[in-house]
Amino acid sequence: MTTITDEELFTNTEGLKGKVVLITGGGKGVGQAVAVAFARYGAKIIIGDLDVPSSKHTMREVLRAGGHIGADALVKECNVTIWDDQVALFAAGYQKFGRIDYVVASAGIGGSPDGSFVVKGGKNAPPAKPSLAVLDVNLTGSIYTARLAQYYLMKDKSSEPKAIIFMGSMAGLNGLPHGEMYSASKHALVGFTRSLRDEMKLWGVRVAVVCPWFIDTSILETPTRVMLAGLPMTPLSRVAGAVVHAATDPDWETSGASYALPDDGSIIRIDRKELAVGIYKILHERLNSVSKIQFNVAYYQGIFGDLFLLVAPYLNVVAFLIPLVAYYYLQKYVFK
Ligand SMILES: NC(=O)c1ccc[n+]([C@@H]2O[C@H](COP(=O)([O-])OP(=O)(O)OC[C@H]3O[C@@H](n4cnc5c(N)ncnc54)[C@H](O)[C@@H]3O)[C@@H](O)[C@H]2O)c1
Repeated sequence: MTTITDEELFTNTEGLKGKVVLITGGGKGVGQAVAVAFARYGAKIIIGDLDVPSSKHTMREVLRAGGHIGADALVKECNVTIWDDQVALFAAGYQKFGRIDYVVASAGIGGSPDGSFVVKGGKNAPPAKPSLAVLDVNLTGSIYTARLAQYYLMKDKSSEPKAIIFMGSMAGLNGLPHGEMYSASKHALVGFTRSLRDEMKLWGVRVAVVCPWFIDTSILETPTRVMLAGLPMTPLSRVAGAVVHAATDPDWETSGASYALPDDGSIIRIDRKELAVGIYKILHERLNSVSKIQFNVAYYQGIFGDLFLLVAPYLNVVAFLIPLVAYYYLQKYVFK
């Protein structure tokens, strides 16, 4: 585990001018703070959120923070649980800015206290079906974002930095009584990030999950605020800094890491390999070999596909010429 101080958070930001960052849940809270943090360095921001008025507010904040050095923004209504909404979000962003370099999956809901497992009406009362809404937004929505991010980030064949950052939680590293679904969704993102790391590295894409303690945003409902009375919260600016740091750190060894912000103190980076030892290490190595073969197949399929597209406009001419040339040779050498 490595401690990261506030002074280190923005040390790799020199290349952000003109880069494009897509943020789900960019209308409020963490997503908005991340948008403004990137915009200060001249990045262009694609904001996808259910809440369009708040997203337009973020857009104004982006222009205020970095408009003078080229920052820009696009707002698109998007429900992350709907695949087609996310497809349209990425397509609109790519069409406007011509590239996507960083993706931050921040859209999330709390649903706490969830209470699905609190026994109500006596121990023999029939159980109510648990709501999976939190998993739909926090987990399924992030998985959709990751798949589309992979596709769009892969389009850039340069060695420019690229990253996908997921918004986890300390509840994804610890349990959260009364918030089982929330905790499950955030634990899942930690495992998802660790698993995705090697595949994404082949395509030059970093991944990380940022796991803050409670932050003072609109996600916190009154019962949660009561429970937290007197306890410090994680400053929003530090969470945004952790996202920028996780996205821009050039060290591949830190890709796949979880960045814990356990209270209002320093950030702790937990590297993905801390428990990947012994037989698990061997399994990782075998699976990585499979990934490399699949990568090469996909890579060369792409090259042949591009070549085909290049020659495709001339195929009519070739199809017309082949019988002519054949006829010529048959006449000249066979039927002479
Ligand atoms: N605030 C905290 O205490 C805290 C702590 C740890 C992690 N987080 C995580 O940070 C992320 C952001 O939360 P926040 O604190 O900024 O909350 P927030 O409520 O301030 O912002 C969440 C944003 O996500 C949007 N959103 C919600 N559902 C959506 C959907 N289906 N499709 C598209 N957009 C949707 C909302 O409209 C809102 O703009 C979440 O993933 C949350 O779990 C928050």
